[in-house]
Amino acid sequence: MLIKHAADIRPSEITSPELYADRRRFLRLAGAGTAALALGGPTELLAAQAGDLGPLVKSPFRVDEPLTPRKDVTRYNNFYEFGTDKGDPAINAHRMKTDPWTIKVEGLVGKPRTFDLDQIYKLAPLEERIYRLRCVEAWSMVIPWVGFPLSALLKAVEPLGSARYVEFVTLFDPKVMDTRPVLDWPYKEGLRLDEAMHPLTLMAVGLYGEVLPNQNGAPVRLVVPWKYGFKSAKSIVTIRLTDKQPNTSWNDAGPEEYGFYSNVNPDVDHPRWSQAKERRIGDFLKRKTLPFNGYADQVASMYAGMDLRKNF
Ligand code: MTE
Repeated sequence: MLIKHAADIRPSEITSPELYADRRRFLRLAGAGTAALALGGPTELLAAQAGDLGPLVKSPFRVDEPLTPRKDVTRYNNFYEFGTDKGDPAINAHRMKTDPWTIKVEGLVGKPRTFDLDQIYKLAPLEERIYRLRCVEAWSMVIPWVGFPLSALLKAVEPLGSARYVEFVTLFDPKVMDTRPVLDWPYKEGLRLDEAMHPLTLMAVGLYGEVLPNQNGAPVRLVVPWKYGFKSAKSIVTIRLTDKQPNTSWNDAGPEEYGFYSNVNPDVDHPRWSQAKERRIGDFLKRKTLPFNGYADQVASMYAGMDLRKNF
């Protein structure tokens, strides 16, 4: 993994958050039209919602591996609120309205607050980070995300000393989403506060330099690169700081199969299949899965002394 140190980023590579917010607002409005020209069929055209995000900070966090083509990143998705087949979200997610949008941040914080999209974009300069995404289903991708550290948002609401966990609740709109009880809606995820504050934990607003397509979790989704993909909650509407470990949709659905931590771990099999290997989308042969998805140097110390077979 190639890590560039923060000191290597020249100040000139950083644009002020205000400029980003203004730029983005313009580009978002312009985006719907350009998407229409860039893509073929009308359904995909609506779901893709492209719009250039402008110049981005070159983040030190980038893996030096070939990128998964954009067409695979945006057409092979898990977003069960829009159907359970991999191709369903690209066809159906255009129904979701992502602007206006707010994220309510509440619970054990000194300054609870509801952020609108422009306020979210002002929290920190947008960075491009190239991360692996490894699904519990044993496939993986390498994606150029655009986003900002979740810590920037959490610091803005001043977590109280008693806060130990962060719960993420995503949109559930029965008017536009599949209401079959595949999971306990709304989709919920959780992290320990130190995991949430870790510099690798990203709030993504785009990929491939463009506004996040709906099927990838627009307008804001979590990306936690050392955990299985399902920890990366899409289309977040509420973030709640708590003193107790929150319930998560997958853990509620199958506690034996989906633990709270869900760190990528080749040594702990899913009860129904091995986690030792993965298929990178586009590859024929499988490759070995790396502990913590290759991010062990950065994150393993957070789990020192824990039995990761019990806390899977
Ligand atoms: N978030 C919501 N709201 N609903 C979902 O079904 N699926 C998760 C996660 N976030 C999911 C979600 C799973 S299982 C994975 S692997 C990733 O999103 C997939 O993200 P991607 O489609 O952008 O690759």
